[in-house]
Amino acid sequence: MYSELVNKVVIITGGSKGIGTAIAERFGKEKMKVAVNYHSDEAGANEAVAIIEKAGGQGIAIQADVATEEGNQKLLAETLKAFGDLDIWVNNAGLENQYNTHELPLDEWEKVVSTNLTGVFLGAKTALNYFLREDKRGNIINTSSVHEQIPWPTFAHYAASKGGVKLFTETIAMEYAAKKIRVNSIGPGAVNTPINAEKFADPEKLATTTSMIPMARIGKPEEVAAAVAWLASDESSYVTGITLFVDGGMTLYPSFQGGRG
Ligand code: BGC
Repeated sequence: MYSELVNKVVIITGGSKGIGTAIAERFGKEKMKVAVNYHSDEAGANEAVAIIEKAGGQGIAIQADVATEEGNQKLLAETLKAFGDLDIWVNNAGLENQYNTHELPLDEWEKVVSTNLTGVFLGAKTALNYFLREDKRGNIINTSSVHEQIPWPTFAHYAASKGGVKLFTETIAMEYAAKKIRVNSIGPGAVNTPINAEKFADPEKLATTTSMIPMARIGKPEEVAAAVAWLASDESSYVTGITLFVDGGMTLYPSFQGGRG
């Protein structure tokens, strides 16, 4: 637990399930004031709020489309109305689906890129404007993926969006470092969340994935949330512009294990 996080205000986009809800719970345990954004899963967001409050924090749920400027403005306005301030913005909302690239419909490309990359830009832009206006030492944390580094055939739109998040994070970390605003990403590998539920329910697919992970197991959402809490805390006060991979070693070229190659 990080005592400096007590009563701090945080927005988490895509907080109604998976890694987003795990981050919400962890911030609840840190006794923070947590705004849980959702797009369409109102029940999931209400459940996340209940989890936050049970853990000892305060929570509210806010419906907003992070791919729009109005959605992000609404998110900030409702958070300020409820909690009076903002300290940390977590751009976590994300989508993925699978297509051969030569068959990938333009609207699917646009859906994934507008949530995973444009949503990160708009969330960061909204947070930056607030932090600059209030002269705050703000903190922005983006959910990227191992696929900001590892190419992923049949997920070209997803990989492209996460590659974009990597350079966007690095660029704005540099641009606003002198203003004492930190910007970092987390890079989850294969984590047990609804986005992966179907895949990991199939023993063969699960075995294929774990064979690509040196630690030979799927990650837990709370292991990703722990990395987010560290980036949110003052323990990482000299850290900006990184992606903190939480992947059991998936980004370490595991096919070279044992001297193969
Ligand atoms: C994806 C998962 C995938 C993992 C490793 C993540 O970014 O969301 O579906 O299992 O990368 O490939």
